[in-house]
Amino acid sequence: MERDRGQWSSQIGFILAAAGSAIGLGNLWKFPYITWHNNGGAFVLIYIACIAAVGLPIMMAEILIGRKTGRSAVGAMRAAAGRNWTWVGGLGCVSAFVILGYYSVVAGWTIRYFLKCLSWSFGGYEPGTSSAAAFGEFVSTGWIQIVLAAIFMGFTMSVIYAGVGRGIERISRQLMPILFGILALLLFSALTMEGAAEALRFIFVPRIGELPMRGVLEALGHAFFTLSLGMGTMMVYGSYLSRGQSVVTSSLAVVVLDTLIAITATVIMFSVIFSKAGMPEQIGKSTAGMLFITLPELFYTVVPIGSFLAPLFYVLVGFAALTSTISLMEVPVSYFIDEKGWPRKKATTFCGAVCFALSILCALSLGADSALSGIEIFDGKQGLFATLDHLASNWMLPVGGFFITLAAGWVMTRDATRDQLIDETTPKWFRYGVWRFFIRYISPVAVAAIIVAVISGMDFS
Ligand code: TRP
Repeated sequence: MERDRGQWSSQIGFILAAAGSAIGLGNLWKFPYITWHNNGGAFVLIYIACIAAVGLPIMMAEILIGRKTGRSAVGAMRAAAGRNWTWVGGLGCVSAFVILGYYSVVAGWTIRYFLKCLSWSFGGYEPGTSSAAAFGEFVSTGWIQIVLAAIFMGFTMSVIYAGVGRGIERISRQLMPILFGILALLLFSALTMEGAAEALRFIFVPRIGELPMRGVLEALGHAFFTLSLGMGTMMVYGSYLSRGQSVVTSSLAVVVLDTLIAITATVIMFSVIFSKAGMPEQIGKSTAGMLFITLPELFYTVVPIGSFLAPLFYVLVGFAALTSTISLMEVPVSYFIDEKGWPRKKATTFCGAVCFALSILCALSLGADSALSGIEIFDGKQGLFATLDHLASNWMLPVGGFFITLAAGWVMTRDATRDQLIDETTPKWFRYGVWRFFIRYISPVAVAAIIVAVISGMDFS
């Protein structure tokens, strides 16, 4: 049966789509926050080391497995490593639903903050309307949360519906340059602010003594999340890549872009924060706080032309989230297309419905429904929202990633992986032996370290 598969039209189309997947709330919301809590400098350095030593090799592994087999996660793992590995792809599909459940709720917030900023920009900013209390009230109003997540899910589904080339690639080609443009504008403006020098010092000057030990493992865990690794997203995207386009160059481009964007976003946010006296001390431990409580107020009180930049900023976050939710949903959708022979439209409708059901539950678990908000399976992670986040980033991604490295490094033959990485498109500096050493030894040991750390009670979310 001819399946409803697709293909990227060019290497740049693939790079933009994969970068769109990687660049998301992980870069704009999570990275600045964990950098803050791990005291900047040294943490950023370790994070970059993790990205290079673990993220890049696994990125290449996932893309090459996808391209070699031409299948989505489940079929790809089976074809590349054998029947016993099929479950790794299955775990990936389940992880996609789990992540989408809560990710789409946060993504929905960007719509509300965009609209809110428009009203502040035109109607004047009222202090207090962006306070922690106002935020708490917003997230605990169930119907708003559901409507916003539904709108976001609708956008996501409409792109997936249109397919790989006309949907995912087209929207990535349109949104990613806009995203880079907005970010450049924000960076430019941030660097002129009073707090910029202090922000740069905080981020780039390593003070090794100030890095908490758990920061090292946190950096590693975040490397997975931010690069969309560990659940077959990049395998699926790789399966739409044709020969004649380099796995090595594309992987490197995606990893570099993702890292640059995360750091740029952090420079922007910290410049704003350091520009207001007393603000660094005020920032609490709330993860959502920085992006949705602290920042709106600062945009309207300290940032020059802030009332112009603020709505743009939330457009940026929304776009980044959208290209990520698309990639998450494409994993189960492509499973039903490849393995069950479903038409794309049917697969999209079905997966969208399941995701939406889950996100309704997450949306209600931020205060609106007391049973859902009270669930506590993992210590200190109250509510379904926090539970799913913990489950995905601390368990499912590292476990999936671990088995993917084993499959690529130990089960697949040298010839099989070499054939994908080395061809006429491979850049001269690339050494296959170095990749193989990393994927066989360095990456699995590092990932195993995360898993052990999680088992012994540490938290990465
Ligand atoms: N990488 C995205 C971010 O940084 C989120 C994401 C998209 C993701 N697809 C994924 C995370 C697959 C883990 C696995 O926001």
